[in-house]
Amino acid sequence: MAKQLLIRDVPDEVKEWIEQERHRKMLGQKEFLLDLLREAKGDRAQQDLFKSNARNTLMTTISLPFTFIDLFAGIGGFRLGLQRVGGHCMFSCEWDKHAQKTYHRWFGEVPAGDIREIDANSVPDHDLLAAGFPCQPFSIAGVSKKKSLGREHGFKDQTQGTLFFHIARIAEVKRPPVMMLENVKNLLSHDKGRTWLVIRSALEELEYVVFHKIIDAAAWVPQHRERVFIICFDKRLFGANPPFEFPEPPKAAQRLRTILESKPDSKFVLSDHLWDYLQKYAEAHKAKGNGFGYGLTNLDGISRTLSARYYKDGSEVLIPRNGGNPRRLTPREAARLMGFDDSLDIVVSDTQAYRQFGNAVVPKVVEAVGRQVVKVMAWQLQRQGNGCLLKRP
Ligand SMILES: C[S@@+](CC[C@H](N)C(=O)[O-])C[C@H]1O[C@@H](n2cnc3c(N)ncnc32)[C@H](O)[C@@H]1O
Repeated sequence: MAKQLLIRDVPDEVKEWIEQERHRKMLGQKEFLLDLLREAKGDRAQQDLFKSNARNTLMTTISLPFTFIDLFAGIGGFRLGLQRVGGHCMFSCEWDKHAQKTYHRWFGEVPAGDIREIDANSVPDHDLLAAGFPCQPFSIAGVSKKKSLGREHGFKDQTQGTLFFHIARIAEVKRPPVMMLENVKNLLSHDKGRTWLVIRSALEELEYVVFHKIIDAAAWVPQHRERVFIICFDKRLFGANPPFEFPEPPKAAQRLRTILESKPDSKFVLSDHLWDYLQKYAEAHKAKGNGFGYGLTNLDGISRTLSARYYKDGSEVLIPRNGGNPRRLTPREAARLMGFDDSLDIVVSDTQAYRQFGNAVVPKVVEAVGRQVVKVMAWQLQRQGNGCLLKRP
């Protein structure tokens, strides 16, 4: 008779890991554990899997070559993040000429212009469509809410005239296996939740399984920056339950002081006039109970969100100075605050640089989410069993 083996007091994190892994490998619990024991018998290193960092050991190693396109590319925050997990960019689109200049310097190509003029059939095949699209209201005047979200009005009617529509129309023609979209967190509450409902319905109508999560980049860079990440998997390929999970944020947060330049130019110090104005403005708002105006940053903490309007007065992220007016970030510090490293030249004016960094996505967050996406791609390849890339260049 086979001997029974009973294991008591299995730590919760190990149980959780077992559940995730067996789901990923599509095995029953007993089958999975037996496999694991068999492997451990043959290879002592496998026993590390039971240590507390088990999950990370296994999860961080996967990288897979895949192709992607970079829509509403800005300065390529998506591109930097996706390249780090094996992505190869096939096409980019961005109409702002200053952003194009930076993109050209960093990646050696000038993105195509207005997305509204791009013929979807001319876009190369790709495994992943990436886009940080501008958030716009949908104009569905004259159509009742119920009707507008019903089947009788497809995504074309509902999203026509918006920039999101152009993502949907490219997806309809090219059928990228995966999409990674990003937007401000307010997308979810915009127009009483209707904007998000329309977007989600459009993606589902195109037969994608949709995951979304608000992620604060503060775990990766010293800045509070909440953005919604929307990950879509083609249902026809991955089925209805792709085993996707958003990444766990890393534990060690960076402090703001670590990104500061040692000798910033004095031009970044606020003039008496501007500093006076910001303080009076803040006082007036505080009196009305409207919260704070400017943000004097704690150098041992993290900053507020860098916005595209930072160039105006720098008020949301001010650096305190001993015995003087505070200063704004330098463009290089703004780059670092977003996690863009110093090897990337800044080739535009200060104003344009602040705009570009304030508009960008944090590449490290894209990388972390991308790593999770790659695992699902790997899972799919394993299921397919032919070892081929999903879409070849
Ligand atoms: C939120 S930003 C995306 C930033 C990007 N994720 C990055 O990391 O830099 C949106 C971008 O869409 C671009 N955009 C807006 N309308 C466009 C259009 N019709 N065609 C192409 N790009 C457009 C804007 O110029 C802006 O750079």
